[in-house]
Amino acid sequence: MKRLTYISRLNSPLSEKEIEEIGIISRQNNQKQDITGVLIYFGGLFFQIIEGDDVKIDRLYEKIGQDKRHTDILCLKTEYQAEERLFPNWSMNVINLDNNTDLLIHPVKILLQNLTESHGIIEQYTQPAVLKIINRGINPLTVPVRKVEKIIMFADIVSFSAISENLPVELIALMINRYLEISSEIITARDGEVSKYIGDCVMAYFAPESADNALQACLNILGELKKARQSADKSSPIRLLYCGFGLSQGIVIEGNMGSAIKTDYTVLGDPVNTAARLEALTRDVKKAVVLSENVKNSTKAAWNFVSLGKHDLKGKEKSANIYYPDHELVNDFDVKDRIIQEVKSLRKETGIGR
Ligand SMILES: Cc1cc2nc3c(=O)[nH]c(=O)nc-3n(C[C@H](O)[C@H](O)[C@H](O)COP(=O)(O)O)c2cc1C
Repeated sequence: MKRLTYISRLNSPLSEKEIEEIGIISRQNNQKQDITGVLIYFGGLFFQIIEGDDVKIDRLYEKIGQDKRHTDILCLKTEYQAEERLFPNWSMNVINLDNNTDLLIHPVKILLQNLTESHGIIEQYTQPAVLKIINRGINPLTVPVRKVEKIIMFADIVSFSAISENLPVELIALMINRYLEISSEIITARDGEVSKYIGDCVMAYFAPESADNALQACLNILGELKKARQSADKSSPIRLLYCGFGLSQGIVIEGNMGSAIKTDYTVLGDPVNTAARLEALTRDVKKAVVLSENVKNSTKAAWNFVSLGKHDLKGKEKSANIYYPDHELVNDFDVKDRIIQEVKSLRKETGIGR
């Protein structure tokens, strides 16, 4: 038997009657499916526990997840092989704590609110891939490590060392957060997984059939950064915000890796190293996007790829054929020296960074 506990937030206010209606339909449905549980409503939040046959619970959780009456659904706990029901007599008991003014219930309300807030904070620090697994009702720690094919993307800011050495921390934070926001949003919208931030570098991965998406994400990020630079104030470091991309493809190990202190759900392997090396090459070849031959071969759209010939990649025995997509956003990348000069003059002109 499976037991799932989740919290969610109301999409828009519901009347008491509407909440009771959820209870009525739930009891009718759950009785037929031999599902039991409890639904607590309080301060615009739902807390629900559902228990029953594994497949039936998964099906119900999916249905509840699509219900437009609530949002921000976060699974708190998934129990497999639960032996006994916690609520054997409740096909779904709805408890509306908003109506309960009992002083003894007051601390319970505070605890529920604190629990929600602390989970919101933890959610912010949790990788999207892990959140997706949790919200499918699966304990991510039980997911076995496996070999899979992925397209790996590395993206990082040009001359970030020079920028960070010369500008005050608040401006560096502003710049990096803007960059991470733009890139992560676009990668996610193109079905990519943001795996981790490594300083000013974003590491992400895509399914092997998503090569066009991965490339389009690079172009969209370059386009958004250009707009951000053009609309930035003269004294803003955003006008120096350029970034380069390396894309590679191959078999990686995906899964939980870490220690008792910290666990990452991540990908490891040769394609990850290759993507990092390709990204580093962008500065030398003066193209904002550099990709490996297998990424090029995985694309289906009509890209105009240009060969950069064979290149030795640090740490790799064989040299590799590399390419770039011919596009004005990719070609406008002879910027390294200019950024270093401009960072210095920005520091002088504005007196910032001293
Ligand atoms: C917070 C919340 C909890 C719900 N819990 C259940 C439930 O336990 N069982 C159920 O059948 N439907 C539940 N629902 C309603 C389902 O999302 C869905 O509207 C309903 O099952 C549709 O029933 P039908 O397929 O018979 O029309 C819940 C909805 C919300 C917003």
